Formats: sequence, structure tokens, C-alpha cells
Amino acid sequence: METVAATETSINAAAQFLRDGRLVAFPTETVYGLGGDAENDAAIARIFEAKGRPRFNPLIVHVANLQQAEDLAVFDDRSRDIAQEFWPGALTLILHRKADAKIGQLVTAGLDTLAVRCPNAAIAQALIQATNKPIAAPSANLSGHLSPTQASHVDGNLGPSLAMILDGGACEVGVESTIIDLSDGPPTLLRSGGVTIDRLEKRLGPISLPSSSDIKAPGMMFRHYAPNTPLRLNAHTLKPGEAGLAFGPTFSDQVGKILNLSPAGDLIEAAANLFAFLHQLDAYGVDGIAVAPIPQNGLGAAINDRLRRGSSAA
Ligand code: TXA
Ligand code: MG
Repeated sequence: METVAATETSINAAAQFLRDGRLVAFPTETVYGLGGDAENDAAIARIFEAKGRPRFNPLIVHVANLQQAEDLAVFDDRSRDIAQEFWPGALTLILHRKADAKIGQLVTAGLDTLAVRCPNAAIAQALIQATNKPIAAPSANLSGHLSPTQASHVDGNLGPSLAMILDGGACEVGVESTIIDLSDGPPTLLRSGGVTIDRLEKRLGPISLPSSSDIKAPGMMFRHYAPNTPLRLNAHTLKPGEAGLAFGPTFSDQVGKILNLSPAGDLIEAAANLFAFLHQLDAYGVDGIAVAPIPQNGLGAAINDRLRRGSSAA
């Protein structure tokens, strides 16, 4: 992994890394992002692994323009007006995912809403255009550390999937994007950031703020996807009426509706499949879902966190 000055050549190389499923740290006007191809669930799993996040927070998907955003999210007059006014810029919109959006389930952590942003920084714009795909990117720091605003702040320990750090100097804004939820009902502020509330309210009218007791930490304010079907964790066999969520060799001798997160026992593959498989099993309308034991190391911690929250034991 090397830090390289952002030039047309290095940006094209970075775009190729992204298309190959690897990760690239790149500057936006707010903070440096840890980018991965939003259409590739394995790349998204690598982002979570690299950050060492103990749980799956949904990620912001970065697009080059409003048109690309409209391929992914449902816009109405209100959200389109806001996008036209503030994009490109330090504003992230939470909107409903389009049913046919080409991105996987992991990037939105199974939710039917999507965080989407069109960054203004020229390097970010050039990278998204060269990649020709939406780019999912959380801030390029390890979980619990400060967001990087210079290439030298980007933690070189973000793991073997980090193929390149594109150096574009200091970020102009230096704080994360403002996040507003425009998916349903009155606009709600989920995070203050680069675009002030005053400017947004001039356009939108009053914006509700979540009560301070809701704001435990950034990322704690989104709803979690939970399947309707009860989950039974650490199962070794299926009970009558249950479908199975397997991992590795578990349930291989069982008959029934079984989806295997990773027959090879690979936690990155398992994370990439998790939300899509939970949705699929939920749609079967079975009485319960038996979930095989998942190891707790690496991404296993985040997978188990999600499964515990989705189970009656949570
Ligand atoms: O300025 C920024 O926004 C930077 C640059 C790289 O674009 N990105 C960034 O990403 O700060 P991250 O992952 O550190 O913060 C994204 C926040 C998280 O708190 C996450 O919970 C929230 O966005 N989020 C993402 N999708 C959401 C959704 N569907 N509903 C509610 N919140 C969501
Ligand atoms: Mg962050």
C-alpha cells in the first residue's frame, strides 16, 4: 500500500483497484474516505473488516451527480430540490433505496433506506467518474479513531485490502458531511456537519433534531434491520418448520431450506452474504431460522452482533 499524489494516472489506477474489489483511501472536501465498490458486497465486507468496526453501520454511497443518485434512491420534489441546491457538497441524504438499485444489502446493513452523497472535491469526483460505479466510503480511520483530514492521518493499518492512499492535501471542510433524513415525513437531522442547519432550514423549513438521549454516538441513530422470522442462534440441527442459515460445514447433513453464508468458512464472504440471506430466509415465511455458530474473530464479531440483535435473545 502506498501513498501517491493524486494525478490523472494515479486516479485511474485507484479506479482499477476499486473495480477489482480492493479499497482506496481518497480525499473528499469533508474528510478522507475509505472507498470500495458499492456494487460489490465482498468489497463492502472488507471495508468493515479494515475499520475493525464491531458492528455493521450502513455506509454512505458516493455518486458523481444527481442522475447517478436517482439510479439508487427514490427522489421526490423535496429531495431533488435539496440535492440541486447543495450538491456537490457536504450533505448526505437518507432516502429510500430503489427496489432495483444495483448495490448489495451489506452497504445499507439490510435497511430499505440509503445514505447518498455527491462530493464536491475534484479528486473524489474524478475517482467516481473513472470508476464508473457508486463508491461506498466511511471515514478512513480505524473504528473509534478521529476522521482523517490529510493523507498522513489515514491509518496505514487499514489492512491488506487498502491498495492505495490518494493524497490530495488537506480537506477543505475538515468535518464530516451533514446528514438529513428525507425518507419519510418531516426532515430530521441525523448528524451536523459541513452544511449548516440554517442553510438547510432556509430551503426546507424547520428540521427536527433527534432528542439528545438518542445521540449516543454517530451511527447510533439509524434503525436496524431485523428479520420478522425468529432467529435461533448457535444451532447444530434444524427443527421442524425451520429454515437454516449455515456457515462452513454445519447443516450439511440436514434437509430443508438452507442458505450457507460461506461453505468455505470465510468470514468476509459470510459478511457479504449476511443481509441478503436474512432477507431471503425471511421471505420463505417459515416458523424460524436456525443459525449455525459463527466464530467470533475478525468480522465474526459484527456478524454475531447483528444476529444477536435480530434474535429474541437481544
Ligand atoms: O463526510 C462524510 O460523510 C464522510 C466522507 C468520507 O464522505 N463519510 C463518513 O462516513 O463520515 P461514516 O461511515 O463515518 O458515517 C456515516 C454515517 C454513520 O453514522 C451511519 O450510521 C449513517 O451515516 N448512515 C448511513 N446510512 C444510513 C441510513 N440508511 N440511515 C441512517 N443513518 C445512516
Ligand atoms: Mg466515521
